[in-house]
Amino acid sequence: MSDLSKLILDKIRDVPDYPQPGVLFKDITPLLADPGAFAAVIDELAGLHRVDKIVGIEARGFILAAPVACKAGVGFVPVRKKGKLPSETLEASYDLEYGSATIEVHRDAFLPGERVLIVDDVLATGGTACATVELVRRAGAEVVAVAVLMELAFLKGRERLDDVTLHSLVIV
Ligand code: PRP
Repeated sequence: MSDLSKLILDKIRDVPDYPQPGVLFKDITPLLADPGAFAAVIDELAGLHRVDKIVGIEARGFILAAPVACKAGVGFVPVRKKGKLPSETLEASYDLEYGSATIEVHRDAFLPGERVLIVDDVLATGGTACATVELVRRAGAEVVAVAVLMELAFLKGRERLDDVTLHSLVIV
């Protein structure tokens, strides 16, 4: 395991029974509060690929994706939960354990063929990342890769991203 992976694991706190009984929540706030660890994560993500835009997924994905875009010297594009973006949007829905969720991106967020890295904090079932890949492609851009801080392997999200390069800084 790399030094960075060890550092990340050390700085992510397990919170039992949040947000509901039986769920072990992965809390990234200790990592964000450590300037060295936070900077190391941003440097790693910013160095993965040469791209034209970084996409961040609301809300925790924004915390990582925006500094990655700044570090890489490229633009940031937010993918938001439905109803939060002011201009014309494209939307995609995906299933949750109970019900469904819808996310949106601005229709004009990308120039045709722009190369995009999608950044989020956690890959769980993969529903959010998969819907984001679909949105970015429908908006006319090329998804170069998806990058997450942490992949929860037992939820098999990777299997839903079988046509995309996936980078996980740690897999648990
Ligand atoms: C979490 C996480 C990912 C997503 C992963 O976001 O930040 O975006 O769930 O789950 P999945 O792989 O099963 O789709 P959440 O919807 O809790 O929103 P938040 O970032 O606003 O807390």
